[in-house]
Amino acid sequence: MIDQRMQEAINKQINAEIYSAYLYLSMSAHFQSVNLAGFANWMRVQWQEELAHALKFYDYVNECGGRVVLQPIEAPPSQWDSPLAVFGDVYRHEQKVTGMINKLVDLAVETRDHATTNFLQWFVAEQVEEEASADEVVRKLKLVDADSSALFMIDRELAQRVFVPPAATAEGGAG
Ligand code: FEO
Repeated sequence: MIDQRMQEAINKQINAEIYSAYLYLSMSAHFQSVNLAGFANWMRVQWQEELAHALKFYDYVNECGGRVVLQPIEAPPSQWDSPLAVFGDVYRHEQKVTGMINKLVDLAVETRDHATTNFLQWFVAEQVEEEASADEVVRKLKLVDADSSALFMIDRELAQRVFVPPAATAEGGAG
């Protein structure tokens, strides 16, 4: 049986992951509205990843005999000034999520919940990737500056991203 405090903390994290999904879907809609379909695709894949994160926590609570309780999802922003502004927000948001995951690990260690400490390691690794992939696009966008042909090249590149369900990569670490 999962500790009550841990159950509440994971329920909050489920909400945070679904908010992340909602935020990225809003960013996808923003990119659609400015005709950057590749950027919109990247965000749509990110939306799927975040839903998968939420479900991973959801399944874990149930597996432990706990109770998932869903809370309202906050409305995300809907407009940004530039692709760089969007990805700057993605990067900062992922840093915030990393902080949340680290706090969950702290709680698991503090309560000697070895199973949850072990479960959370997937997310610790995943957050390294999440921050790195956002930062990679931020760096590219900083180089591009006002060059619209370079921006369209990045758009074509981001159009290639496809969703890989976490279950398919769980054995080999974060996906
Ligand atoms: Fe679920 Fe982007 O962290």
